[in-house]
Amino acid sequence: MLDLCLTNCRLELDSRVVCLGIKDGKIDSIKNLPSPAYKTLDMTGNLVLPGLIDSHVHFRDPGLTHKEDFRSGSAAAAAGGFTTVLDMPNNKPPTSTPQAFSKKRKIGEKKSLVDFGLHAGVKDPHDMGALVELRPVSFKIFMDLVDPTFLKDASMNLKGVDPELPLSLHPEDPTTVHQSTINMKKEVYESILYAQARPPLAEEIAVTDAIALCQDMNQKIHLCHLSTKKSFHMAKNAQKDGLPLSFEVTPHHLFLDTSYLESCGNMAKTNPPLRNDEDKLGIQDLAEIDIIATDHAPHTLHEKNQDIWNAPPGVPGLETALPLLLTLLNQGKLTLNNLKRLLCENPARIFNIPHKGFIKEGMDADLVVVDLDKEELINPSKFHSKAKYSPFEGFKVKGMPVMTMVRGNLVMEEGEILENQGIFVYSKK
Ligand code: DOR
Ligand code: ZN
Ligand code: ZN
Repeated sequence: MLDLCLTNCRLELDSRVVCLGIKDGKIDSIKNLPSPAYKTLDMTGNLVLPGLIDSHVHFRDPGLTHKEDFRSGSAAAAAGGFTTVLDMPNNKPPTSTPQAFSKKRKIGEKKSLVDFGLHAGVKDPHDMGALVELRPVSFKIFMDLVDPTFLKDASMNLKGVDPELPLSLHPEDPTTVHQSTINMKKEVYESILYAQARPPLAEEIAVTDAIALCQDMNQKIHLCHLSTKKSFHMAKNAQKDGLPLSFEVTPHHLFLDTSYLESCGNMAKTNPPLRNDEDKLGIQDLAEIDIIATDHAPHTLHEKNQDIWNAPPGVPGLETALPLLLTLLNQGKLTLNNLKRLLCENPARIFNIPHKGFIKEGMDADLVVVDLDKEELINPSKFHSKAKYSPFEGFKVKGMPVMTMVRGNLVMEEGEILENQGIFVYSKK
């Protein structure tokens, strides 16, 4: 007897419908006809996808829970169709010691509605061995905050303790950012100056350094939020040369350009900044990108309402990513296979997360049910995130998640959030 049978599931745009049998949190069977179950739900009319995995979120828990906590952040994830999130280490205190890592894992286990993994930070490279034992999905380093020797040291230590674990890098060169920021602060005040304070060159220098590290050390590297065409081409070429490199792009860098910094002000302020039309990556590049990650980076409206230099960078992305991408799917600009590759399969593969990312027998029953005809205007006041602002406010979208399920448990139904206990996920060794 199954725990749950989902009937009339459309898994592909043009395929026949199937029944998904769920037992003990796993996909037990995929059949043409329903099997006996304690509960049956009819999915007629909707598309059923693997639950999305966001490889880059900032839930601010512990330390900055006025911006977001594991509860509100994971509710935003469930509302947006994400069933697993990988949380970044820039907390207070940072998740860069074994104690801080274990403490954050406990917080997530208590408060998260969706499954979660943790990126570890690096304070003292000698702590990396003890941290590896606690099973982070990667070690994250902000290249804009460290010098190149530190990066090399971290890589040497990591290679010694776990050569398979990637270094996730925020690629911006500190010297270029520092000098350009000083120059821009001399100019007459305007929001758009922020884009020039952290110019494309800052990213491109850091990506060059990251590729050199990848090559010299044979270090597995994951580049976070690439934003320029040039760094994208550099990363693609490195991959063609056989280097162990992967990269992600955010929806805001794909959809928006610097004009949004003028029209939305700080609500569109993020690091790296939005780029102008000539420099930016765009939706035409989707087929060649490895991962779409939201870089969900919530702040309070009060903080965001300061001037452009003092307002913190970051936009909340968990509740807008899937509707924006389903809109592209409806417009014929993104294939369903690419959507699954970018948001389910590749995040699971690159961060080595077992049992997730695919609808197959034996996998976790992590699912998002999507109504491709549902139209809405993006309305941040309805977000479950504590950050109720978005540069996408007012965007017209077609295609919405209507149900999210984590290991067979309903966590979102028609926008309502339901109780669930998320578990800690870690890369298989
Ligand atoms: O825009 C950003 N916000 N970029 C980062 O690298 C950090 C993040 C944050 O934590 O707010
Ligand atoms: Zn970053
Ligand atoms: Zn980030």
